[in-house]
Amino acid sequence: QWTDFERQTIQSIFGKMDYDDVGPAALSRCLIVYPWTQRYFGNFGNLSNAAAIQGNPKVAAHGKTVLQGLVLAVKNMDDIKATFTELSVLHSEKLRVDPDNFRVLADVLTIVIAAKFGASFTPEIQATWQKFMKVVVAAMGSRYF
Ligand code: HEM
Repeated sequence: QWTDFERQTIQSIFGKMDYDDVGPAALSRCLIVYPWTQRYFGNFGNLSNAAAIQGNPKVAAHGKTVLQGLVLAVKNMDDIKATFTELSVLHSEKLRVDPDNFRVLADVLTIVIAAKFGASFTPEIQATWQKFMKVVVAAMGSRYF
């Protein structure tokens, strides 16, 4: 269901992305702007204010982990749902993450990327990115009943 343009666009975004920068930025922004998402990270230590969240090494590490998860989706663009079966089960049954939060994280990630890429994040590229994230969010939610 992907056009050549869409495949190239997604691959190019991930090719240019600095995971060590974008992952921590997106997760920390999520925890700051949507504080209820902190409830799932009770074992991450100090999340009491924005500076603590941004300086928290566990948040940074986990931000990178989430992006590594997205890289799997890029490598398996034709079967994202199956690729995320296990992760969906983990978030549903073990972590008990409310699936609405997948969209929340996808949205903050979009904002971080748009800010990084600036004018080169054209409306056409953004539309492709949002389509990709929509498929990711649906796949992450696919094992919720
Ligand atoms: C763990 C990916 C969204 C909470 C993980 C792991 C990955 C991952 C790859 C590590 C799994 C493992 O260790 O086997 C993703 C992706 C997401 C997403 C791709 C959506 C795009 C979320 C959201 C939340 C969340 C929205 C909560 C607001 C957690 C928690 C863990 C986890 C609490 C366990 C962390 C730990 O204790 O180390 N996720 N995740 N995830 N995720 Fe997600």
